[in-house]
Amino acid sequence: MPVFPVNRLRRLRSNPAIRAMVRETSVEVSDFVYPLFAVSGSRIKKEILSMPGCFHLSPDKLVEEAKEVHSLGIPAVILFGVSELKDEVGAEAYHPRGIIPRAVKAIKKAVPELLVITDVCLCEYTSHGHCGVVRNRQVDNDPTLDLLSRASLVYAGAGADIIAPSDMMDGRVAAIRRTLDENNFPHVPILSYAAKYASAFYGPFREAAQSAPQFGDRRSYQMDAPNVREALREIEEDIAEGADMVMVKPALAYLDVIRQARETFNHPIAAYNVSGEYSMVKAAAAKGWLDEKLVTLEILTAIKRAGADIILTYHAKDAARWLQ
Ligand code: PBG
Repeated sequence: MPVFPVNRLRRLRSNPAIRAMVRETSVEVSDFVYPLFAVSGSRIKKEILSMPGCFHLSPDKLVEEAKEVHSLGIPAVILFGVSELKDEVGAEAYHPRGIIPRAVKAIKKAVPELLVITDVCLCEYTSHGHCGVVRNRQVDNDPTLDLLSRASLVYAGAGADIIAPSDMMDGRVAAIRRTLDENNFPHVPILSYAAKYASAFYGPFREAAQSAPQFGDRRSYQMDAPNVREALREIEEDIAEGADMVMVKPALAYLDVIRQARETFNHPIAAYNVSGEYSMVKAAAAKGWLDEKLVTLEILTAIKRAGADIILTYHAKDAARWLQ
């Protein structure tokens, strides 16, 4: 084995061209999905305080945003509904003229080439803020499946390209797949939030989506942070139930989970660079404590290096400009 002075690893780092030649990972605009928050009304573009650069957008403004996203080369958006209409069973989530179907129709009409992914969950629409129906202060799994399936069908009917359930109920991928198949949407893929952890990094999103639980927490359905074998079981189940793509969420504190998922499964893997991860960078950058561009690109590269194929990120528009 030749050792120093024969071996000098710095030879392959000596200039930008040679570094590019041996680079193992690259982040591309085609990897990104940009999250958007839809609200009812018109001419509404209201910045989310804890997520600078992200907005509540009424359908007309969503269309403007979607055009910009598409012009930057970002292939997809994921839609979240923000609703004042809340009740025990989250009826607005599956109302045929609810905020999500209206938003999907508006975007698909204006920018048909842009992929529209719809998040499917009840927490933005339930009065208690939980992701399923509540009975005796417990989130009741099986009755929730029917409601998630109804929402998925409404979104597919409105023209959603991909359905992305984020509720973490058991069996929801199978229920949604069956409903889509029985109603002439066998071609619509499911991207399941398969390994979704109960994470404090969702804090800014819950403010943005007005979806914080009004009692208790989400620990009886979202995963316990210390577990990784369980994440592989979650992914295995969702794949068995028919998921076309699987997600690990959050991303940054769970790079090992992404890596293990990559080594265990052959399905496309998405990673969600969540709101808290974004807000930390934005806050530190605003104070001049971090270089926003360099830190963001380093984070996105790390998520890619860990094994993600797809990155859902609030940085997508900025990163697309930086990568040009
Ligand atoms: C809805 C949902 C959440 C996120 C995506 N879908 C919040 C939660 O589970 O509490 C978080 C996204 C983010 O923090 O950026 N269930």
